Amino acid sequence: MQAGWDHVLITGASSGLGRALAGGCARPGAVLHLSGRDAARLDEAAAACRARGAEVRPVVLDVRDADAMAGWIAGAGRLDLVIANAGVSAGTGGTAEPSDQTRRIFDINVTGVLNTALPAIDVMAAQAPGKDGLRGRVAVVASLAAFVAAPGAPTYCATKAAVQRWAEALDASERRRGIRMHAICPGYVRTPMTARNAFKMPFLMDAEEAARRTLDGIARGRTRIAYPWPTYAGARILGMLPIAARAWFFSRMPAKAADGTI
Ligand SMILES: NC(=O)c1ccc[n+]([C@@H]2O[C@H](COP(=O)([O-])OP(=O)(O)OC[C@H]3O[C@@H](n4cnc5c(N)ncnc54)[C@H](OP(=O)(O)O)[C@@H]3O)[C@@H](O)[C@H]2O)c1
Repeated sequence: MQAGWDHVLITGASSGLGRALAGGCARPGAVLHLSGRDAARLDEAAAACRARGAEVRPVVLDVRDADAMAGWIAGAGRLDLVIANAGVSAGTGGTAEPSDQTRRIFDINVTGVLNTALPAIDVMAAQAPGKDGLRGRVAVVASLAAFVAAPGAPTYCATKAAVQRWAEALDASERRRGIRMHAICPGYVRTPMTARNAFKMPFLMDAEEAARRTLDGIARGRTRIAYPWPTYAGARILGMLPIAARAWFFSRMPAKAADGTI
């Protein structure tokens, strides 16, 4: 099942999952507002969506720029679906996580999501319900990392837990005024983000398949869209282990590398 949304806004559309989500929403009659930081890759993504018949309005924007994000979203016109997808990932590399990396990941993965979702909710609250009876939908891309405090990626896990819990809790109150919130929790997806991982990633899936599952879950009205199920089940079980047992398990696993460039 996949609904066709007419007015869609996606952050982080220049790469990976965001680009695949844009492609999944692209069809004749759809207007896509796409953002990213890399102008050349964003243009490529926009061209691919235009080739599928969509009208595309790309804009180079950093999600940390709250004023620019608010202006872009408020000026986009009607919005049926907004996907706060932009995010970064890095780990400890097996030592200590650099403090500036911690601050940067929180800025992008949490504040950047709020800079997207909050203005989107304001726009939706002021617009009439669409053909599905809703004023709009906001999807926040979290991760299955939200369910495990992995010692190799403390900040990434914490930021994903924050946005997953926020979206799911907010859905209960926002749906009363005709707005739905969705927490997207993918397992490993083959994108530039995971290309840096030097360890085996179970049930790694292509970005197009992750986008298909995400859009299908949104269309079905699921608050939490978590996939694939074996990784989800593993993450939930690991997350429930006593902290000492979890620490022992992760001490045997490689940690994601730190990244001074994010
Ligand atoms: N890949 C996975 O296995 C996986 C699993 C679970 C969840 N996720 C989540 O899925 C989302 C997309 O990740 P991905 O795997 O597709 O990674 P990716 O290929 O590295 O793409 C990340 C996207 O986010 C954008 N971005 C990063 N920082 C930004 C900033 N400050 N302002 C604006 N845009 C920014 C990038 O834009 P530029 O490239 O133009 O800078 C890019 O479009 C992330 O939230 C990630 O945490 C990924």
